[in-house]
Amino acid sequence: MKNTEGSSEAKRRAGEHAAGLVEDGEVVGLGTGSTTAHAIRGLGHAVDAGLDVRGIPTSFQSRQLALDADIPLTSLDAVDGVDVAIDGADQVAERPGGGFDLVKGGGAAHAREKIVDAAADRFVVVADPSKLVDPLDYPVPVELLPNARPTVAAAVRDLGGEPDLRMARRKDGPVVTENGNLVFDCDFGPIDDPATLATELSALPGVLEQGLFVDLADEVHVGHGDGVDVLGR
Ligand code: A5P
Repeated sequence: MKNTEGSSEAKRRAGEHAAGLVEDGEVVGLGTGSTTAHAIRGLGHAVDAGLDVRGIPTSFQSRQLALDADIPLTSLDAVDGVDVAIDGADQVAERPGGGFDLVKGGGAAHAREKIVDAAADRFVVVADPSKLVDPLDYPVPVELLPNARPTVAAAVRDLGGEPDLRMARRKDGPVVTENGNLVFDCDFGPIDDPATLATELSALPGVLEQGLFVDLADEVHVGHGDGVDVLGR
């Protein structure tokens, strides 16, 4: 389930702008989705021009894009840290006291994305203006072990949400993540307290990861018709 609104030109501007932040010698988290794809391609052009970076992909898609762009790849267990992560979002809301909350996982990659994004010294979100909202109200993707489907569904309803098992396109049956799990898109309506909801969802037995990224992002690069706005710094 993707938030597919927003112009591809705005996504391109945001992605390429974020790629331009990466400095020589850095380890870069490579997020997933159509906006980050522009950043990966932009980084590939910089590598062609001599930039020395190593990328850590967060999905099959970002790994393949990086391979196509000749970006050297590494993994979390082979580096001392991640200098910067670049990733998209399905929705972005500014926090009352500063910082950002996100909904991610429209591409079902949020478990690996959260590991890499949270490990980064600097987590840069790339977005088009359609992603900026207040409050968050996008259905929260929840990745769960397949045998926990009935219990997690009941628990999500107890928390006030409506779980919808994400179904595959061009395959019969549900989406199966790269970790072998299922995804519920959980509609809570407007989310007034993302931090509490994130804690409650993460605590459910059988939940591998949920798509609320609470106060993890350092900045948001928003592409638009004639430039990029940088929020947060
Ligand atoms: C992948 O699971 C998601 O978290 C994406 O990062 C998110 O859906 C944003 O994707 P787009 O850049 O394609 O909108």
